[in-house]
Amino acid sequence: MTALTLSTAAAPGLRADAIVIGVAKGAKGPVVAPGAEAVDKAYDGRLAGVLETLGASGAEGEVTKLPAPSGFKAPVVVAVGLGAEPEKDAGFDAEALRRAAGTAARALAGSKKAAFALPLAEAADAGAVGEGVLLGAYSFDAYKENGKDAKAKSGKAPLAEAALLGGKPRDKAYKAAIERAAAVAEELNRARDLVNTPPNDLNPEAFAAVAQAAAKEHGIKVQVLDEKALVKGGYGGILGVGSGSASGPRLVKLSYTSSKATKSLAFVGKGITYDSGGISLKPAGHNETMKCDMAGAAAVFAAVVAAARLGLEVNVTGWLALAENMPSGSATRPGDVLRMYSGKTVEVLNTDAEGRLVLADALWAASQEKPDAIIDVATLTGAMMVALGSRTYGVMANDDAFRTAVHEAAEEVGEPAWPMPLPEHLRKGMDSATADIANMGERMGGGLVAGLFLREFVGEGIAWAHLDIAGPAFNEGGPFGYTPKGGTGTAVRTLVRVAELAAAGDLG
Ligand code: BES
Ligand code: MN
Ligand code: ZN
Repeated sequence: MTALTLSTAAAPGLRADAIVIGVAKGAKGPVVAPGAEAVDKAYDGRLAGVLETLGASGAEGEVTKLPAPSGFKAPVVVAVGLGAEPEKDAGFDAEALRRAAGTAARALAGSKKAAFALPLAEAADAGAVGEGVLLGAYSFDAYKENGKDAKAKSGKAPLAEAALLGGKPRDKAYKAAIERAAAVAEELNRARDLVNTPPNDLNPEAFAAVAQAAAKEHGIKVQVLDEKALVKGGYGGILGVGSGSASGPRLVKLSYTSSKATKSLAFVGKGITYDSGGISLKPAGHNETMKCDMAGAAAVFAAVVAAARLGLEVNVTGWLALAENMPSGSATRPGDVLRMYSGKTVEVLNTDAEGRLVLADALWAASQEKPDAIIDVATLTGAMMVALGSRTYGVMANDDAFRTAVHEAAEEVGEPAWPMPLPEHLRKGMDSATADIANMGERMGGGLVAGLFLREFVGEGIAWAHLDIAGPAFNEGGPFGYTPKGGTGTAVRTLVRVAELAAAGDLG
């Protein structure tokens, strides 16, 4: 990953391939953002005018490259749009900085070193820029011919080194912000790697092995239930979904504990390493991206490792419900009834509604330890994408205050999310003539129906939130800001933030 440093160096004398500066959209045209004073001075204070002549407006996502002024060691200045200029006395918001840094880092792929002279009003801004750089510089080359070396030779390797100018390397708060950014971004990028890894290489067993290795490295306790153990324990939901696959299911439990913890959280992730739909097979056109159906489990895994690396003073247990949903002679049929880990019976009416089945067992398992709160993360329904689009995830909960807290945490870290209801009247659509509940209900409001199903498997009295990340988990469009094409790592930063809030006693 890109190396990140804080630097007190002045822009002119800095040896780098490029100097990145910010441009905001002002009332009367582009405005050079704070942090770039030395650069502007070297252009005799005419930088804003030059940028305007070159067509720059300061809009988000905009990149303008120009030759560096004489006397500069770096050959190129990269001006990146920050969006609207903030009101007088207000600073740039963290997300604007994060996105601009990510956009610049992408534009600098193939470069060795860049200096970032973006506005840093406080330590948190350095964290935001650092995060944006590390997330924007991500690339997934493992399956390109000759891997990373070939990319490096063709000049497309990710930016190797980023120095943040104006950061205070001796200031504790700045140092901590950069270290946090590095830990979170590194684990988030690992989650992206897992999502991008093709399903023939990442089956439940392989995912569990990755989790085991990481747990060992970071002092996290890990327990893997294989098929035999799942049968013995009565995990009918996970087994039912996995029964059609040649690669058996797994339930992975990761326990990070802090000796100073007073709160405990459980994160539960949907880990369908490939969702073909099963016997209710998805039509062509709907399964090409279904390797992303384990993005919830990847996010949970990354968040637990990040919590451990940051030494957060809270206990966090991650549950990865891993299975491959395939059709075969041993697959669950529409009409089958599964006996779940909680003891409830479920009539499977559609084998493509599999996420809720594996999550039900994991939610019940998590509930047995009576954590203070549970959050599940899942690429659960196409309906949530229809409702909120491809960049916003839905937040549902059994507790309004907890839902608000999770939504606010998401907004704070720059993950677009929106609260969704769990209307009681939709529950009866899942009534089954044969079993306690069916795994399908009304088509309208399908994302909420799925949420209501999950709620039935959360232990009494435990605050629970459900994040349906089907939209933003996998970016099928082009890259933007710090978000690449493919796996995005959505929800990792929300989970880490919630864990930090719990550690600080600020989660209520
Ligand atoms: N994994 C899918 C949901 C999904 C769709 C995620 C598109 C990402 C992109 C899920 O398992 C599924 O198939 N859901 C069904 C549920 C239905 C059968 C009740 C759906 O949304 O169509
Ligand atoms: Mn499905
Ligand atoms: Zn699925």
